[in-house]
Amino acid sequence: MPREHAVVTGGGSGIGLAVVRRLINRGLAVTILDIRATATNVDDLPEGTLQAFDVDVTREPDVRAALATAARTAGAPTRLVTSHGIRGQYKPALELDLDAYRRVLDVHLVGTLVAARALVAGLPEDGARSGDRPERGSIVTVSSTTAYRGWADQADYGAAKAAVMQLTQNLAIEWAPLGIRVNSVAPGHTLTPMVQEMIDQGYDVTATQARTPLGRLCSPDEMAAAIEFLLLDATFSTGVCMPVDGGWTAVGK
Ligand SMILES: NC(=O)c1ccc[n+]([C@@H]2O[C@H](COP(=O)([O-])OP(=O)(O)OC[C@H]3O[C@@H](n4cnc5c(N)ncnc54)[C@H](O)[C@@H]3O)[C@@H](O)[C@H]2O)c1
Repeated sequence: MPREHAVVTGGGSGIGLAVVRRLINRGLAVTILDIRATATNVDDLPEGTLQAFDVDVTREPDVRAALATAARTAGAPTRLVTSHGIRGQYKPALELDLDAYRRVLDVHLVGTLVAARALVAGLPEDGARSGDRPERGSIVTVSSTTAYRGWADQADYGAAKAAVMQLTQNLAIEWAPLGIRVNSVAPGHTLTPMVQEMIDQGYDVTATQARTPLGRLCSPDEMAAAIEFLLLDATFSTGVCMPVDGGWTAVGK
């Protein structure tokens, strides 16, 4: 049987790259869609397991064209992880630049929808429903713990991530009859290039660590493990947003 084919947006870095490595270890062929895909260092991965395309996920024709090209080599993709993302402005709402605000919504929310419906539109008609895999495909989106509550200076990123969480539920309901599960993770602070850049610019993570019951940041591979579980193993879960945050959202104060 040909191996399954997964697409990882934002797979060039951080959480997405850790997902890419895990899925290849599980025997899947993987396609990265990333605005900086060709800068990805994946020389250690087995030959023939990976394709990579420089694509902005907000551009639907480019995403569809990349998936069609990737499908010619690895077959139609049946799995998708949307791990692309950019930082917000970290400013009070009154000071937000509106063009940058729209870009954060566009990348996180619109980009997730564009990638998700590109996958579903390209699914093979016959699907792969069988006793051991009673589904045609699955999707995991990436939200954030900032989606659960109001936070100062998060009117862009936090609102976009709350929208991703809601979109996940909407798609789960619409696409369950098609045999597609759609779930999400809500990461707490994970030590990726995105967070390292914040630390390098003076962001202090000690308060976050102190408020986190497990008392530390998440590693990209720990986050990828949760994503892999929802994508491939949690066959009766759909519409779920799973916090992966060391207990951050469980704290009552
Ligand atoms: N790291 C954390 O603590 C944390 C916490 C909560 C949520 N998240 C979310 O997890 C996801 C992964 O973040 P990360 O920490 O691995 O960051 P990262 O910066 O290491 O990786 C993000 C990737 O997305 C790509 N990207 C950005 N804009 C894109 C676009 N328009 N089209 C295609 N690719 C694009 C970047 O090139 C990069 O490779 C993001 O959605 C982020 O918001 C991260």
